[in-house]
Amino acid sequence: MCGIVGAAARREVAAILVEGLKRLEYRGYDSAGVAIINHQGEIGCHKRLGKVAVLDQAVTEQPLAGSLGIAHTRWATHGKPSEENAHPHLSNNEIALVHNGIIENHEQLREQLTAQGYVFVSQTDTETIVHLIHSIMKKGEDLFSAVKLAVEQLEGAFGLAVIHKNEPERIVCARSGSPLVLGLGIGENFLASDQLALRQVTDRFIYLEEGDFAVLSPDSYDIYDAQGEPVKRKLVQLTDKTKSADKGQYRHYMLKEIYEQPEVIKDTLRGRISKDKILEQAFGAQAKEIFDKTKAVQIIACGTSYHSGMVAKYLIEGIAGVPCRVEVASEFRYRKFVVQDDTLIVTISQSGETADTLAALRLAKTLGYAATMTICNVAQSSLVRESDLALMTEAGPEVGVASTKAFTTQLVALVLLTIALGKRNGLSAEKEAEMVSSLHQLPQILSEVLTLDQSIEKMSEAFADKHNALFLGRGVQWPVAMEGALKLKEISYIHAESYPAGELKHGPLALVDSEMPIVAVAPNDELLEKLKSNLEEVQARGGELFVFADNNSGFSSGDGITVIKLAPVPELIAPIVYTIPLQLLSYHVAVLKGTDVDQPRNLAKSVTVE
Ligand code: AGP
Repeated sequence: MCGIVGAAARREVAAILVEGLKRLEYRGYDSAGVAIINHQGEIGCHKRLGKVAVLDQAVTEQPLAGSLGIAHTRWATHGKPSEENAHPHLSNNEIALVHNGIIENHEQLREQLTAQGYVFVSQTDTETIVHLIHSIMKKGEDLFSAVKLAVEQLEGAFGLAVIHKNEPERIVCARSGSPLVLGLGIGENFLASDQLALRQVTDRFIYLEEGDFAVLSPDSYDIYDAQGEPVKRKLVQLTDKTKSADKGQYRHYMLKEIYEQPEVIKDTLRGRISKDKILEQAFGAQAKEIFDKTKAVQIIACGTSYHSGMVAKYLIEGIAGVPCRVEVASEFRYRKFVVQDDTLIVTISQSGETADTLAALRLAKTLGYAATMTICNVAQSSLVRESDLALMTEAGPEVGVASTKAFTTQLVALVLLTIALGKRNGLSAEKEAEMVSSLHQLPQILSEVLTLDQSIEKMSEAFADKHNALFLGRGVQWPVAMEGALKLKEISYIHAESYPAGELKHGPLALVDSEMPIVAVAPNDELLEKLKSNLEEVQARGGELFVFADNNSGFSSGDGITVIKLAPVPELIAPIVYTIPLQLLSYHVAVLKGTDVDQPRNLAKSVTVE
């Protein structure tokens, strides 16, 4: 969470920093700030509560001159969102610092520094770092050495950038547990939590590794490892095939990203399937060897990515015949479990930087799992760099906090993995060809489902004044219902739960009345008749049903039931297809309720703290 930008240039940097923050706002958006060393060698700083637009306004009204500075957009962890708690934090108006992450020993450091006479103006853990650096510099160290010595005393996770008014041509930054990337220009250099922030100024990037420090000036950059030894890190030149992160004609990023799904699924399939086979070399050079010895799969992920893992469990066990466990990363990393022989760890993540998933991967690597694979949307992310295999989803930048196209492209990648494992476990060439043919049909089918948008918008009116909703599915459609409930709650703030429909009579049926809309996904699969019986139980108790059903399922709209029909689709891709109407439903409910669709309250796109 939180986004950091820094610039060391020979031109004014305020506009560059603020534009960078706007592009990072997906990481947190409760307050923002910028600090710049002006031409008189003083630190000028503005902080504002609210979104980056408020800070932008402040910088327009009271410009901050100077060619070296740092900036930050915050997602509160320690201390409520407020101007005092916003970054940059300053020590004696000499040092300014921005930080992403959590300092676990901040209370102890605060006590020590208070005893030395430092006065704290915020409740943040971050303020301890800036005073700590100041206290070390008082003993005669320069900024770089002081940052290094301070970092040795920090417990927790951080990506940080620091400037000192007496060193007006240098930014010092450090990374441990939170991502940082350097952006290289001509006569100017930058840093940020994500390259997206800097695409306006450069296409050349260096991703810092765990424990790295860097010192940036307009004309140079030096990188040091955790021991302080100079190191070289790979330079990555990004081409502009990276999809645009603009809203285009759409009112919200989320809607744009929903509509992009046919295209990005095509991109995810490109080069990975032939007419009738998967192209296994696309999984990476080691893939054959790893898949050959895989006897079980352990999936680890959070949120929406966890839901795609839940879908995968049905596919990997049901089609590939390989045992598959799925666990939320924040649970996996803190419990004792039995490691089955020859188990492949699969992490799933849009960002590749989710703190719990990353920590779980690192833990798993110490526990004797056979190999690690990630299904991820960001090529330069920590999960990709730290896994044996990476299967990239080609969703392009996903800006809306509510994940949409990342989810469906993850499902496509997981179908490919299912086929790869299944082929080693008796999946026939005919079955593979049939499955690959379903994948070829998928983009066109999704385009057709998107034409239901207006009917779904109409349906959404029934939800706008409700406080609760129930989402039901059976079998592989249960995780689809879970994802539908997550979408509704995160962007419309309506409390939504999902259940496998067969569980209703074991408790949740007690909730059903006319105030509880019930959404069900009903493709024409082997569980359809069971689902119908469950839905009849709901109707008998006065519950109002909203069903997305296969044309041939026998459902029709009537008293207490609204049905939106979908053309029959191959069973393999039904979870992907039935996700789309649920995304559209949540979107339209949120628009009706007037919430901030792309940046819902209390959330951040990339959860890089525990
Ligand atoms: C879903 O809409 C959320 N944005 C959230 O649940 C997200 O999926 C989760 O935080 C995991 O993120 P990741 O895929 O980047 O690891």
